[in-house]
Amino acid sequence: MRVDAVTLFPEMVDRPLSESIVGRAREEGYLKLGFSNPRDFTDDRHRTVDDKPYGGGTGMVMMAEPLYKALLKVRKKGSTVILLTPKGRRFDQAVALELAKKKHLIFICGHYEGIDERITPLADLELSIGDYVLTGGEPAAVVVIDAVTRLIPGVLKKSDATVNETFTGGLLEAPHYTRPGVWRGKQVPQALLSGNHKLIQDWRRERAEELTGRNRPDLAPPAAAKKKARAKKILS
Ligand code: ADE
Repeated sequence: MRVDAVTLFPEMVDRPLSESIVGRAREEGYLKLGFSNPRDFTDDRHRTVDDKPYGGGTGMVMMAEPLYKALLKVRKKGSTVILLTPKGRRFDQAVALELAKKKHLIFICGHYEGIDERITPLADLELSIGDYVLTGGEPAAVVVIDAVTRLIPGVLKKSDATVNETFTGGLLEAPHYTRPGVWRGKQVPQALLSGNHKLIQDWRRERAEELTGRNRPDLAPPAAAKKKARAKKILS
């Protein structure tokens, strides 16, 4: 998959996506990550990318033209353009699964108070990673690119790693344990040591239901199915 980030701060996206699984996915060619910087598309001495908002108000707004030119540099036929903004639709696993099917994603990262609204119609999708305001779209782009990259076939070496996990089946995942069997007096649950596949499955299902009820009562399976259908609609 090819991914481009339109950003004034490419390092903020490049660095966190150079480590661990995503870093390896880049080295192995599963993910080709590029950058386009609006500052490279200015023509004044100060390389200005922002200006005061019309109508007054605090903060600065990113100007349309440098953003537009930076986008045109990377946009091709078939690209999916995503604008990161706290005003966007909430990002979740269902959206990640849809995005993972695309050939080319472009993320537009806003900064300062936001971007000139006339850029918004160029995006296929406006995405928010949660109900809080970040200093810019870059950390949000990192989150989305990370979640999508691990879904690219071949990135996770065990093919079933993304099948049973949290959110995919509409429930949070059951807890995990590893050696030692007793750690500071705390035992690993007997069911997991039993070697009995059915017993382990039942135990995991019960713990998953219990955990979901406690931490995310909104995540009942029918709601998850509806969410998936909605994500499909957003992108078709
Ligand atoms: N930019 C600033 N806050 C954001 C958020 N919560 N999600 C996506 N982009 C953002």
